Amino acid sequence: MKLLLRIVLVLVVAVALLATGVYAWASASSSRTLNRTIEVHEVDFPIPFPLEADEIAELGLSPAEAEALAHERAVERGRHLVHARYPCGDCHGDDYGGGVMVDAFPIGTLLGPNLTSGRGSVVLDYTPADWSRIVRHGVRKDGRPAVMPSEDFLRMSDQELSDIVAYIESLPPVDNELRAVKLGPLGRILMATGEIKLSVDLIESHDAPHPVYPPPTEVSVEFGQHLGGVCVGCHGMEMTGGKIAGGDPAWVPASNLTPHAEGLAGWSYEDFVAAMRDARRPDGSEIRVPMTFVQPYAQQMTEVEMQALWTYLQSLPPQPTPR
Ligand code: HEC
Ligand code: HEC
Repeated sequence: MKLLLRIVLVLVVAVALLATGVYAWASASSSRTLNRTIEVHEVDFPIPFPLEADEIAELGLSPAEAEALAHERAVERGRHLVHARYPCGDCHGDDYGGGVMVDAFPIGTLLGPNLTSGRGSVVLDYTPADWSRIVRHGVRKDGRPAVMPSEDFLRMSDQELSDIVAYIESLPPVDNELRAVKLGPLGRILMATGEIKLSVDLIESHDAPHPVYPPPTEVSVEFGQHLGGVCVGCHGMEMTGGKIAGGDPAWVPASNLTPHAEGLAGWSYEDFVAAMRDARRPDGSEIRVPMTFVQPYAQQMTEVEMQALWTYLQSLPPQPTPR
């Protein structure tokens, strides 16, 4: 009996030591991952983008009037971008005063900071280069990697980013001080084992030039591919779907969106619109989380945007879903 007790005790201590060791390793490794300094190219662009000289002359505007009209248009474009295309508000809050990306104990508290000019704002001294660094590279102003999924915004042009900033800056200040990002034990282990990957490591180049303007707003493969930039985080670079890397383990795999038998072969444009806006497949089955997060955005997309996306998906080579 005494011997058995001793064996059990030794085992318990061994397991505890092992767990502490694994946790210490995961902690140190994830801290190293988060405390690196990442070099990102320095870009610049105007906020707002000015009007063309031709248009200013045609409308007979004074410089002040031209500036005001440029600003008004930028805010309008930015409003559409964040309601139909880029889900900043999902994590930074509908009023941009701060929100939640993940708040679950073992994983961690990953809050989207306050982007308004109120108390607790993190963007008061942001330059265009700083906006580009966080949004298109996943690097914070202090040079350290962020946990924000910036690979989804890689294809964003300077003008779109400028418009989004003009829109966010037009919002009323919100006073809200949020806690800094903190990983829990499971979050640290997932990061240390590479299950959670940071955008800075997923984005291949931190000095490749960005387009200044988005492709023209028209039903074209090029514009559709540009819109599809926000789908690749889940559906994959080639839109062939499969397990969502770094996603919530409870999420179902993403669907294959190529015109393959395992994908959207046989779908009509109307089927696609119903799937995007009403979360229903042609056979009546329901489309589940996390695709449902995309639904409110799809409902705000214009007809031209929807058709361009569809045209792009139809132009892809049919490929099976990776296993
Ligand atoms: C999936 C959630 C998510 C989405 C979508 C998202 N963000 Fe973030 N964002 C975060 C989190 C979380 C942080 C805090 C990152 C950190 O400190 O590691 C952050 C940080 C930031 C910061 C501050 C970085 C710093 O220097 O501290 C800015 C600015 C920002 N995001 C802008 C945007 C904009 C603009 C968009 C839309 C184009 C956007 N975010 C979309 C989650 C998100
Ligand atoms: C947050 C991850 C995520 C994002 C972002 C996302 N999707 Fe999905 N999508 C999914 C998942 C997961 C499914 C499968 C849902 C299911 O099986 O119920 C899906 C299903 C679909 C379907 C239904 C096809 C079928 O037969 O299952 C279409 C169409 C679709 N997505 C298009 C898009 C487009 C276009 C975009 C970009 C504008 C996009 N998705 C962005 C995760 C995502």
